[in-house]
Order: sequence, then structure tokens, then C-alpha cells
Amino acid sequence: MQDLNSLKTELIDAVGAADGSEALETLRVEALGKKGRITALMKGLGGMEPEERKAAGQALNALKTEIADAIDARKQALGASELEARLLEERIDVTLPTRPETQGRIHPISQTIDEVVAILGEMGLSVAEGPDIEDDWHNFTALNIPPDHPARQEHDTFYLPGEHDGERMVLRTHTSPVQIRTMQNGEPPFRVIAPGRTYRCDYDATHSPMFHQVEGLVVDEGTHMGHLKGCLIEFCRAFFGVDDLPVRFRPSYFPFTEPSAEVDIGCTREGGQFRIGHGDDWLEILGCGMVNPKVLENCGIDSSKYQGFAFGMGIERLAMLKYGISDLRTFYESDLRWLRHYGFSALDAPSVVGGLNR
Ligand code: DAH
Repeated sequence: MQDLNSLKTELIDAVGAADGSEALETLRVEALGKKGRITALMKGLGGMEPEERKAAGQALNALKTEIADAIDARKQALGASELEARLLEERIDVTLPTRPETQGRIHPISQTIDEVVAILGEMGLSVAEGPDIEDDWHNFTALNIPPDHPARQEHDTFYLPGEHDGERMVLRTHTSPVQIRTMQNGEPPFRVIAPGRTYRCDYDATHSPMFHQVEGLVVDEGTHMGHLKGCLIEFCRAFFGVDDLPVRFRPSYFPFTEPSAEVDIGCTREGGQFRIGHGDDWLEILGCGMVNPKVLENCGIDSSKYQGFAFGMGIERLAMLKYGISDLRTFYESDLRWLRHYGFSALDAPSVVGGLNR
């Protein structure tokens, strides 16, 4: 048998000289692997006399442990220095100024959603989500729009083929079904906003088959119309950046709210010039109301204990009014020149404190 001492010296020297974890691994396989040198010596034990085998076995085991330990120790040392080298190599200077040539712009739809979320988030509402493909029950029935209700026709619904769990599937025609999902999946109180895509079969300068809405829902004990008005007046003034913006609540009808209202903001159209916040003309911007008790009950909420208000508005419309965009279709044309003109810097994240009206 090879002199174990010289083998040990040779291997320990090699471990010390290994300059990376790969070299170390090769070394480990050569010494301790299935066909490794120490393993081969161990296999030779079988042919020895009992006395000789005992002594040689002990010596080999000791060698095996010693080499394994040396490899482990070297591995740790190498790991630390390899990590250090990588950190050094991948180091970035976070104090460098941003590149002035950055071209990416935030789309006005995203910007407007961020603004709405910033304002209502500050009031304590958090973002909720629901699927774009809804079932008939969530999109209509639970919202007190029964099968033969005229509101269904107004929605110009895209129905999907087939059924799911006995329900017809639709591309959601509004974000209101997120109210239903929120109430079904939690316990009151609720304070949520749900921005998202919505779909209706309609296409012209003011309608697109895919558009965006944001829904709001607040449900608690003792929630009343005063809360609704306070929340929405404050929202309109913050969003349009006009502190004394006139806001009017006009009686209206929605199946899911009772009473219902439409909200108008003051504007002027004098001399073909449209301006928000001045003059004595009005412009409708959103729908709202006190959640119909039937809707609460459809979601298993005790309407004698809880009341709520809800609202819904079109994101494109808000963006068009605020940023002076005249044709809805341009939002979806992916025209870079348009985006450079109407888009927003990625670093200008809207916030109530930092500013919403750049
Ligand atoms: N879902 C309505 C629509 O798409 C908008 C709306 C009106 C939502 C009143 C509401 C509400 O939550 O209370 O036209």
C-alpha cells in the first residue's frame, strides 16, 4: 500500500493550492469519490489479514476524515473570497445621477390610476382586484341587475362561449363585480378601490371595446351619504388640483345603489375653450350611491347593521379631461411620438405630498 503519509501530504498540498470551488470539487472526486484514490485503498482492505486490516482501516479512515475536513475548510475560505470578488465586480454606484437620455414614459392611463390610488389611498382605501373574465352572477345578478333588466342591454356585453359552473361567462363590463368579490371574501368594514380593465362592444372617438374604470367601496356601521359626499368632493378637488372646484351631486339611477347620484364638476366652455373649475357649466365625471341593501345581502352582509357607499368612474375620461387628450383611440395606438408628448417621467411617481398635477 502506498505510504499514507506521502499521500496525505500530497493531497493536503493540493487542497491548499486549489484556487476555486471547481478545482476543489475535482480534487474531492479524485480523492474521495467512487473511483477516488482513498476509496480504492479502502476497497483493498478486503484482501488483507484481519490484524493488518484493522490497523490499515483505522489509518485510512483517519486520512479520509482529515482530507474531507481540509476540503471543507478550503471550500469555506474560497467561498468567502469568491463572494467578495463577485460583490466587488458587480458593484454599482447608487449615487450616480440618472441618465438624461432615458426615454421610457409612463402611459397616461397608468399615471391616472396611480394618481387616483394615491389620493384615495391617503384616505384609507386599499387596492383590490378581480378577474377580467367574470361570471354572469358577479357582473350582473349579485349587483341587483336581474336577467331581464334593461341595464344589461346598455352594457353591450361580450359573452364568452360555454358556461362555467352553470354561469355564463363575460368580459366584465365594469369594475363593480370587484365589490361583490371583496364583500364575499372578507368581513366588514371594507375600504377598497379597484382599478382595472373593462370591456364593452362599442367603438368610436369616445368609446373603446377595452377601457379602464376604478371602483370604490366603503362599508361600515353607520356609513352615510355625508361620507360619500366628503370623500368624492375631496377626491375631485385633489385630482384636478383645484381647491374650490364646484362639485354637484345629481340624482340618478343604478341598480346596485340606492339612492344613486352622478357627480358633475364645474367647468366653462366659453369661446370654444374648455376649462375645469371655472364658469357655470357642468361636466359629469362619475357615478355613485349608497350600496343597495340587496347587494349587501347578496354577499351575506347584514344590511341592518352595515351600510356602505360605492362609486365608479372611467379612467380614460379622467385622463382626457385632466391632460387635454381629445381622442380616446389614441390611448391604444402605441404611437411613440404621442407617448413622448403625453407620457410621464418614471421618476415622477404621483403622491398627495409630492404632487399630483405636474
Ligand atoms: N358600474 C357603473 C358603470 O359602469 C359605474 C358605477 C356607478 C359604479 C355607481 C358604482 C356606482 O359603484 O355606485 O357605469
